[in-house]
Amino acid sequence: MTYAAITGWGKCMPPAVLTNADLSTFLETSDEWIVSRTGMQERRISHVSAIEMSTIAAKRALACAGVAAADVDLIIYGGCSNDELVPNSASGVQIALGATRAAAIDLNTACTSFCYGLATATAMIRSGLARTAVVIGVELISRYMDWSNRNVAVLFGDGSAAVVLQATDREEGMLGAVMGCDAEARQTLRVRGFGCTYAGRHVSFGDTIWDFDGQAIFKRAVGAMASASVKVLADQGVAPEQVHLVVPHQANLRIIEAVAKHAGLPMAKVMLTVQKYGNMSAATVPVALVEALEEGRVAPGGWLLMPAFGGGLTYCSLLVKWGDRVTPLGTSDAELPPVTRTALEMVNAIRAEQDPHGRSLAGLMAPSFAETWST
Ligand SMILES: CC(C)(COP(=O)(O)OP(=O)(O)OC[C@H]1O[C@@H](n2cnc3c(N)ncnc32)[C@H](O)[C@@H]1OP(=O)(O)O)[C@@H](O)C(=O)NCCC(=O)NCCS
Repeated sequence: MTYAAITGWGKCMPPAVLTNADLSTFLETSDEWIVSRTGMQERRISHVSAIEMSTIAAKRALACAGVAAADVDLIIYGGCSNDELVPNSASGVQIALGATRAAAIDLNTACTSFCYGLATATAMIRSGLARTAVVIGVELISRYMDWSNRNVAVLFGDGSAAVVLQATDREEGMLGAVMGCDAEARQTLRVRGFGCTYAGRHVSFGDTIWDFDGQAIFKRAVGAMASASVKVLADQGVAPEQVHLVVPHQANLRIIEAVAKHAGLPMAKVMLTVQKYGNMSAATVPVALVEALEEGRVAPGGWLLMPAFGGGLTYCSLLVKWGDRVTPLGTSDAELPPVTRTALEMVNAIRAEQDPHGRSLAGLMAPSFAETWST
């Protein structure tokens, strides 16, 4: 039997920090509101593209695994922040890495994209379609955030991380997954402004309106992540007490606490990054995993649980059995170029390019492509 071991891991976090106080300079919000409702204190704003962040994270993961880029035969780029739709972003990472033999796939299930990518790459390795894969979770949400909307602008941040998967006959890696989509609620989280619906509407890049029903998402997210976690543990015959570490999607501290409570998992076993990075969508789970390894919180042979949810509303919970090695085989000297502006300066530059509300998107409230174009 073939399994897909996680043998390398690496993150690339942009250094510029956007604090709650920074957000209060242009939004009617406060540190007290953001911390008490979400647990978030700060988040990162990237000065480079998502492909550049991903490439550095992938180089670090490959060095950690002791794998040459030329030996990679699959790259999955998980996230909903693409430089362009065509060519895809995974191909940009492929050429930057020199992974010339690799198939290159973009996978967008919003915040669950890394977890869905991990499940997809694992299935491809276990079926014999690939032997060595790089799975990336990355977001550059700052570029298309609606910075005039305090309901969402305070919640998100940029970041990236990657893992390397390798075929093995040892029973480790992702051994169980429950994946689904609560599509009845797909309108509760929606970014207007991208896609064919908007063709010919003179919408400029980054000019978006976010539809966001936070309370509905909150309830559905807790229910879906908790029941998926209970099911994946039961399917694999693993008791909650046997889980060494929970590495959840980090959308809100209160969501994580509610999921842990419902699934019978103490918060002492939960890896948290939400306070310092906010919600990095597809990047939250892999960044939290890398930091758990850096902090010595991953036990050799330990069970890891990864519950996540995102736009769609996609959800999942993955059960991973870690291998023996929890330290890197090597390191990469790849680094981001230095940042010359503060996070607030970068956000203000994006804000200056966005039209004020009531603008080009205001008439585009049709709920579907068909309704927009068939009349
Ligand atoms: C968004 C979220 C933090 C809001 O928390 P909440 O406790 O549900 O807060 P509410 O929606 O009840 O808002 C309460 C009030 O705060 C206001 N408010 C919203 N954002 C605010 C902000 N940044 N600063 C200050 N006040 C804010 C609201 O307007 C509302 O005011 P009102 O009572 O006068 O109408 C929470 O619902 C959540 O985390 N949802 C899921 C997160 C998510 O979907 N993430 C993306 C998918 S991965």
